[in-house]
Order: sequence, then C-alpha cells, then structure tokens
Amino acid sequence: MPKTLTPEIAARAEMLRKELHRHNYRYYVLNDPEISDAQYDRLMQELMALEATYPELRRIDSPTQRVGAPPLEAFKTVERSVPMLSLDNAFHPDEVLQFHERVLKFLQTEETILYTAEPKMDGVAVELVYEEGTLTLASTRGDGYRGEEITANIRTIRSVPLVLERSRERATPSYLEVRGEVFMEISQFKRLNATRLQKGQPPFANPRNAAAGSLRQLDSRITATRPLDVFFYGTGNMTGVSFASHWETLTQLQAWGLKINPHIRPRISIEAVLDFYEALESKRHELPYEIDGIVVKVDRIDFQQRLGSKARSPRWAVAWKFPAIQETTLLENIEVRVGRTGVLTPVACLKPVSVGGVTVSRATLHNEDEIRKKDIRIGDTVLVQRAGDVIPEVVQVILSKRPPDARPFEMPRVCPVCKEPVVRLEGESALRCVNAACPAQVKAAIRHFASKAAFDIDGLGEKLVAQLVDKGYVRSWADLFFLEKKDLLALDRMGEKSADNLIRAIKESKSVPLNRFIHALGIPHVGESVALILAKKYPSVDDFMNFDEEIFLKKDELSEDERKALKGIGPVIAESVRAFLDNPKNREAIVRMLEGGVTPTRLEDGASREGAFKDKTVVLTGTLERMTRDEAKASIEREGGKVVRTVTKRTDCLVAGRDPGSKLHRARELGIPVIGEDAFYRMLEDKRGDPD
Ligand code: IVH
Repeated sequence: MPKTLTPEIAARAEMLRKELHRHNYRYYVLNDPEISDAQYDRLMQELMALEATYPELRRIDSPTQRVGAPPLEAFKTVERSVPMLSLDNAFHPDEVLQFHERVLKFLQTEETILYTAEPKMDGVAVELVYEEGTLTLASTRGDGYRGEEITANIRTIRSVPLVLERSRERATPSYLEVRGEVFMEISQFKRLNATRLQKGQPPFANPRNAAAGSLRQLDSRITATRPLDVFFYGTGNMTGVSFASHWETLTQLQAWGLKINPHIRPRISIEAVLDFYEALESKRHELPYEIDGIVVKVDRIDFQQRLGSKARSPRWAVAWKFPAIQETTLLENIEVRVGRTGVLTPVACLKPVSVGGVTVSRATLHNEDEIRKKDIRIGDTVLVQRAGDVIPEVVQVILSKRPPDARPFEMPRVCPVCKEPVVRLEGESALRCVNAACPAQVKAAIRHFASKAAFDIDGLGEKLVAQLVDKGYVRSWADLFFLEKKDLLALDRMGEKSADNLIRAIKESKSVPLNRFIHALGIPHVGESVALILAKKYPSVDDFMNFDEEIFLKKDELSEDERKALKGIGPVIAESVRAFLDNPKNREAIVRMLEGGVTPTRLEDGASREGAFKDKTVVLTGTLERMTRDEAKASIEREGGKVVRTVTKRTDCLVAGRDPGSKLHRARELGIPVIGEDAFYRMLEDKRGDPD
C-alpha cells in the first residue's frame, strides 16, 4: 500500500538531505566532522527509510545516491571505471541475519553460503594501481567514481610496496587496482598529537582524522613524517588475473607483498560470523588501531557477481558496526556536587545520549583545571566517551559548533550548599568545603553511615536523609539514635508503618559489628578493610578512642606477627585516624552514640566480603598525593587485588597519580580502564561508589 506523502515528511527529508550534505562535506572534504559516525549513520538510515517508503522523495542529488563528496580542487582528479562503493550498515544481529536471508533468496542455491569476515578499519579508503608490478597511481575514494590523486603521498608509506613481490602461485598481473584502508596506530596518533601540542599546532581529534589529514598533504614530505600504515581488502579492475573467491584474492594480495589484516576469518558460516563479531568486540580495545565493526563478505566471487550492487553499496557485503563508544551531545549545564569529604566536583549535565548502549546524561569534569585545559563552556557541543566501566567523561569540545553565547564556567568560591568559602588545599587539584556542618557533607556522611557496609539501616534512603537533615532532626550520626516516632511522622510521605519500621531498623542496627562501626565514621582513607584491621587491634570503642598512631609509625620495633597484623596502615592512614579522633566534635558524637544505646562488640570477618579489587590485576603509576606507594599497594592487596609492574593485556586497571608517564600511554592504547587518584580513594573507602 503506497503511503501518502505529507508536507511535514517532505520537509523532514529535505532537512536530512541538507544536513547529510553538510556533514559529508565536513567529513570528507574538511576532515572536521561535527557529529559522530553513529549520528551520521542514523541520519542516513532515516533518509534511506523515508525514500524507501515514499519513492517520490528519491532524487539524483540525494546523499543516499552517492558515496562521498567531490575532491579538493588542488589535487588532480582520478576517474575510475569500477566505483569504490560504500557498505550498508547493520547494527544488530537480526539485520545481519536478514542480510544472509536476502543473499540466500537472491542466489536460490542449495549450497552453504560462506562468508569471509574482516575487521572494519576506521581509516581512509584508497585505491592503488600497479602496472606490470610497479606502483603507478594512488587515489582517495573521493565520491567513489572520482578521487584525488595522492600517489606521492602513498609512496611515503613504508608498508606499501613500490614494486610487487613475485609470488609462486601467480604471475604478476599486467594491470591491478587494489583497495585498502590507510590508518594510523593509536600510539602513533598520540605521539603525533603530543608533538603537535608542543609546537602549538592543533591536535587531531582521532586517528582517522590524523590519517586523512596526513594523506591530504600537498607536500608529500610532510606525509613522509607521519606514521601511516595500510591494510588491503579488495580489488578493482585487473588484467591477466582472476580469482574464484575473496579469500583467494586476499591471500594472493598478501603474497604480492600487500598487507592484509591478520584478524580476518576466512570462509565461515553465518553463525560463526556472529561469534566472530562478539569475539572481536571484546578484543577491540586490545588492538593497536581503531576498528568500528566487522565487514561480512560473501566469499565466492561468482556469487558476488550474481548479487551485484545497488547505487551505493554491493549486495554481497555488509558492515556490522560496533556500538559507538563516543558520541557528541549538548552540554546544557555544569553542576557542582559536594561529596562526603567536602570535595567540590563539577559535573556536566548533558542532553541524554546513548553511548555504546547506555544512556548518558552526566559526565564528570573532574576539577577546575580540567575544565580550563579543555576549554569547556556551557552551551558547547562536546564529545563524550565511555570506555569499559569507567565513568563517562567529556573528551573534547567541538569548537565549530560553539554558539556565540557559550558561557565559560567558573568554580564557585563558596560552597554551593552551605555558602561557606571553599579552599584549595596545598598540592590538591580539588576545591573543598571545610565546613563540617555543611548539609551536603552531613547528608552524604549519614548516607554512608546507614549504608550496608556500615550500620546497614534499612529504609534510610537518600530522600529521607535529606529531609531529616534539612528539618534539623539530624546533625550528626548520633542524632539517629535519639529519633522518635513523632519526629518521623512530621516528615513528608511518612506513614505510621514506615515510621515504626525505621525506628525498629535503627534499634536493630545498634549491635553493629565493631569493624562496621569504625567504617561508618567515614574517616578519610578508612575503608572496610582498614576498619577491620583497626577493629582487630582495638577490640572495643574505648580502645579505639585511645588510638595510638605511634605503633603505626614505628613498625620496626614490632614483632613479626604484629607487623603483619598492621600491614597496610602507614603514616597517612594513621594520621588521618589521629586527626579524626583529635576533633572534639567527633569524640562527642561517638560518646553520644554509645549513650544512645549503640553497643558494637563482635567482629564481622571480611572473608565473605567482596573486595573492591577482588581478583583484579592492578598497575600503579605516577605519584599519589595522599598515600605512599607501599600503602597504595597494600590497600589494593587488602581489597583482593594483585599489584604488578607492567601494563599488559591482562591488566584489569591502572591507578594513575600525578605525572603518570608511559604506563598511562600503554593502558590507553590497550583500552584498559584508568582510575584517577580521587576515584581510587573512593573505591577503597566505599566500593559501592559513594556519590561524592
Ligand atoms: S570492503 C564494496 N572491507 O568501510 C566493498 N571496507 O563503509 C567496499 N572499510 O569505504 C569496502 N575496513 O573505507 C571493506 N575490511 C574492509 C574495510 C572496509 C574498512 C571501509 C572502507 C569503505 C567503508 C565502507
């Protein structure tokens, strides 16, 4: 049933066409994209769907009808007889299975269809011509039919053979067009960017842009200094040679000295293609270059020929994309959060965007220095990234999208919650609210106090804590034990039953194990495992209040066993406990808790506890501001982790302090999650990730 075209739909199609043309131009001609590939793909999909539903919308100048943009005028144009096509995209296994169904239906064959599946390189497509085995011409894809002549630039790539190797299987063809992808390895890209920054030149946004920018040099001496590489994945016109299958083509190219990707899976069933996708996706971050999916190709050339091509793409191949891990979105606002320890953290409030399948609406901006370094302003369009389990972060601003009214951001000089002046402690990048009575800190402290790993008070959630603090019923933890039912009934949405339940939960929590009691106090650097060591050393609250930091500082004088028992508590932690207990307000609150009926006695052994670094292989790098390296190592070990020296594929995460150096470089290269210093302390203190 044909559908009726409405003016709204026609206008939408027109808008999509214009946008796609513009993005095409920015991407292919200027190498300065404004949107991510994923967003571009979505616009293209929408237009293709509209044109499929309403054939009257199809126009010869539609971006769906051509492959790229016209070449820059400064380069010579190369016309080609076999166009360099694009590929249809698939995002879900269903779409790949549909592709397979279409192939089967089209070929009407009893034979099993075998596919050759390859990593989809995120680089720049090129075509090289070899005449009698000698490289004579090279061009970019351009609009598919005509590209830019870049022979001199391609000749600078070390891995490109200037003369083909002789192969045993076949004679060198008199004429051969080969196609492939030029790319830059991630580590090389980073090195190049570092040098550019040093020289005051703008860095490239990603390895693909760096490769494209390097190929588009009119002066090939500049290209020669750029670390480019290439993998070949197909052929164009050929004379004096033919192939029966795609895999045969690839192995022959390799025999002639043309590099092919080592991760290709030749001749596999469609089911094995699904497995390959998954395997490669999980390995994606271990590869030294960027890939954005896999390309699935019908292996037999006679099948390929029968299937043929549509205007823009062949029917015998499909690109199955990985979910994008970077997206662009609008930074609508910057909020400042105050955590349990008073640290002010700027947080980007983003227009919600799906990044690798997870909706992201907030991303940490770390601190003031970071915002300034990246020149992030409110109203900017930013590139956000989510890698592994790491909290989403803002990678960079898309400057070309900056509106004239974008507002620079200043960290507040007073705490956004209690309005007391904030301070920047020496040697720290963070601003801190040092008012211990600040409601934000009190709320966070109470939430921590009531959490599972501390007093485990059921029903004392975030909203309730906020009300209790705002209404003045609770100023410190001790107040919880003096709450009466009538106080609770005065709160919003609090019924008889909930009030009774909460009073009971508070009462039951009074016999908390001593280690959880100590953890609940929220002493900086005292997480669950340190609390357990302290509770073993000081078997009662009285003993703990007489804490003596000396023994932690003079461990040499202790017996072997004692030293072992105290392992992991060094000067930083000892002084933190000392400072906490020296504060009369804290002592008073502890005494009041005891008066309120809190009786911690027994210990809860940590055996059943899941450590924050359980079974994780961790590498430390750089200088930690607030902990010695030995303390950090011991902390990780106590939390069930293993600390090793070198970053390898098997490393689970890298803890990076100041001046991290090459280990950070290597971790990024391998896609290993990097934990900053503040996040590290938070993990040790509360592995469930306190909101501060
Ligand atoms: S085959 C007709 N194989 O993806 C078949 N393309 O969206 C055309 N690409 O322009 C391409 N890795 O730049 C093929 N292993 C691979 C590829 C690959 C990356 C790029 C290539 C092409 C684009 C199509």
